[in-house]
Amino acid sequence: MRLNKRFFVTTPIYYVNDLPHIGHTYTTVAADVVSRWRRLMGDDVLFLTGTDEHGAKILEAAAGKKKDVREYCDEIAAGFKNAWKDMGVSYDIFIRTTDPLHEDAVRKFTGGLNEKKELNFSKYEGRYCIQCEKYLTETELSDGLCPDHKTKPVAQSEENYFFNLSKYREKLLEIIQDTCHPQHFEILPAERKNEITGKLKKGLDDISISRAEMPWGIPLPFDPGQTVYVWVDALINYISAVGYGLPGQKNLNYAFSDWWPADVHIIGKDILWFHCVIWPALLLASGLPLPKKIFAHGYFTVNGQKMSKTVGNVIRPAELIDIFGADASRFLLLAAFPFGSDGDISLDDFREKYNAYLANNIGNLISRTTNMVEKYSGGRLTVPAGWTDSNLQEIRQLFSVAAEGLESLSFEKTIRSIISMSTFCNQYIDREEPWRLASSVAPSDRQKLQKILYEVILVLKHITLLLAPLMPETSAKIWGLLDEKEEMAAVIRGMKDKPGLSLPSGAEIKKSPPLFPKQ
Ligand code: MSP
Repeated sequence: MRLNKRFFVTTPIYYVNDLPHIGHTYTTVAADVVSRWRRLMGDDVLFLTGTDEHGAKILEAAAGKKKDVREYCDEIAAGFKNAWKDMGVSYDIFIRTTDPLHEDAVRKFTGGLNEKKELNFSKYEGRYCIQCEKYLTETELSDGLCPDHKTKPVAQSEENYFFNLSKYREKLLEIIQDTCHPQHFEILPAERKNEITGKLKKGLDDISISRAEMPWGIPLPFDPGQTVYVWVDALINYISAVGYGLPGQKNLNYAFSDWWPADVHIIGKDILWFHCVIWPALLLASGLPLPKKIFAHGYFTVNGQKMSKTVGNVIRPAELIDIFGADASRFLLLAAFPFGSDGDISLDDFREKYNAYLANNIGNLISRTTNMVEKYSGGRLTVPAGWTDSNLQEIRQLFSVAAEGLESLSFEKTIRSIISMSTFCNQYIDREEPWRLASSVAPSDRQKLQKILYEVILVLKHITLLLAPLMPETSAKIWGLLDEKEEMAAVIRGMKDKPGLSLPSGAEIKKSPPLFPKQ
């Protein structure tokens, strides 16, 4: 019996102050692509996402809509679930911080910190930005305003519980810098790691982990007059989802000891500090293992400007789906700029890339190759005499680069390799002109034609496997044209032991319907 490798990947849980936009979609699609690829490779995957529903920001949003806050949260959480369904997102658990199981876990976690004497009660005065849901220091303000939201933070003075974060500064630095440390976790890309170590070297303040005047939150078990700070509440989702603090340490079929620590938290760079410093310190204080990896992708602007309702440039996932369909939207989001870097997104650029990569390149390849097999070979393939798969050496190399990209979250590598394979094939066809060979009666021309058809369909098979995590529906459609008895997952797993693909003589290739109509 072979025990499959477990792979636990998370997205941030998103605030329900608004319905999802393509910023949220970007992270979620990336996590979905990784999850799908790992499943295809044979791992047991747990893909966790959800919604962050407590705190001032949510209360304000509900009040703005004149809605009861619970009803409002239900509505927006359902909006997220629907958006992910429409985008083909295959999460395994969708957690909400208002789920009773999560609230129990938060009580257990904060109660534990108190028992371990990790908390102090003291007075705090500061400026709180509701949109950030955090206190801002003097140096963080620009002209007295929050630099991200351009709003004036609210002066607050309360007595709160403080977590001894400063105590963990040296230990965190050691854990992050020493790759052989038993508790080491990776922070990627490297520049994000440098950002965190640089900041840690400058010093670390304790943080308040409760609020005296926030009714919409989880009351502290040892002082119900205070509620848990929304960020601490939110971070705990990563362990409550897998049963931390629940009867039997289990949620659904997921046992805490089997699944924690997470293999990777995929986040945006805006929430790096919370994930690389506060979260690990809270876990250390609780005696729990640390996540293995934190990958922070970049932030994008839309048409050169920060995406915001005020500017009026917020793009919703449904708008992308309406124009390009879900599969192409997923592809285009990850094709826009390298994962990990900052970038810009615009519908014009998406349209251009859609036409260049999908309609004119991959789509064209699929339709012309399947068409040619039907027209010139009665819809059947013949294995050319003396053919070995070392003929496709270059394609095999591109395939492994692409597969490596899917494992290391370098989606740009994957996409680039797929496009190269497709371009390579299209150029091969243009050069060899199979239509000319088809009109010849010379046996050598007929043989050459069979060889070209066989090779391009094999390359198409490689491309289809790589497209599977990126474009699940489309790749399934293409797979269905290739007379392949095995499922994609079985074929991919088989390639681990024996790289290279084949198709038997007589394989029946169906003509493809148009997959990417020109925009
Ligand atoms: N609720 C917190 C996270 C708690 S996790 C324990 C939160 N929520 S959020 O709704 O504001 O979502 C932030 C995340 O959305 C970012 O980290 C990023 O993953 C994604 N993005 C939002 N806007 C984005 C861009 N413009 N560009 C790229 N990603 C963006 O923070």
